[in-house]
Amino acid sequence: MTAVAERVGLKLGVVGKGGVGKTTVAGLLARAYAERGLHVVAIDTDSNPNLGLSLGLSLTDTEAVPVLPRSVVVGSGGTIAAADLVAEYGRPTPAGPVLLSAIKISAAGAGCTCGGHATVRSLLADALDDVDVTLVDMEAGLEHLSRSGGTLAHADVLVVVCEATRKSVLTAARTAALAIELGIPEVVAVGNKARNGEDVAFFRDALSTERIQLAGTLPYDEQVAAADRTGVVGLDPMSPEVRSALDEVLTTLDAVQSRLSG
Ligand SMILES: Nc1ncnc2c1ncn2[C@@H]1O[C@H](COP(=O)(O)OP(=O)(O)O)[C@@H](O)[C@H]1O
Ligand SMILES: [Mg+2]
Repeated sequence: MTAVAERVGLKLGVVGKGGVGKTTVAGLLARAYAERGLHVVAIDTDSNPNLGLSLGLSLTDTEAVPVLPRSVVVGSGGTIAAADLVAEYGRPTPAGPVLLSAIKISAAGAGCTCGGHATVRSLLADALDDVDVTLVDMEAGLEHLSRSGGTLAHADVLVVVCEATRKSVLTAARTAALAIELGIPEVVAVGNKARNGEDVAFFRDALSTERIQLAGTLPYDEQVAAADRTGVVGLDPMSPEVRSALDEVLTTLDAVQSRLSG
């Protein structure tokens, strides 16, 4: 991978249907950017947070990450600077990125998650100056894209994770439409769980019909499914197949970033 230290301030939202692999892809991307020597902040907005597991934390350490305060206005005009919020609530992970946990439902009937989303929105708006890549692992569903204001309104790029199903590509298409409404400049897709050439061709054709750029395709890994049942999460970031797919995704994102800064 090439060094891109001069390219700073990229804000990515990882979105898609439930179970497609958002957390897996968010973990791999965050890890890959950190490997380039970049300062990465990874934000978990899933009410069942497990991005920490994908970044090498134990379950106990993942659950111990303090949850961001709700409905905080960050930056000028707010109560706390973004850097202070990250310093206070962020936790380092073995993979390199600093992990923030935005939402946790710890009790039944604990109410909606809007306050947590509002804090993330404000954090993204207040550009984390010393952070190279801010990456948000979104919970499933389009609600937080369509919500007035939108959690990811200040993101530069949405990475829509898809499986090789019509439904997940339709979700990608709806997501791309909402991104335009929110003024998010770029949307790319990552095909996940590709079992064969047919799946890869499906991603290429179905996404091109929807005019969504396919950034890369990650293979289905039987071992991940097996390991997941024993509590291990994620694709092996060292596997050559995963690395080459990730390199392709990062190359696409580099081009997107050049477009954004050009
Ligand atoms: N490429 C893959 N091959 C096999 N299993 C995968 C792959 N990507 C994700 N998974 C599995 O699919 C399930 C959902 O993945 P996850 O990343 O948690 O999705 P999401 O965050 O979209 O809900 C998990 O059990 C995960 O281990
Ligand atoms: Mg998830």
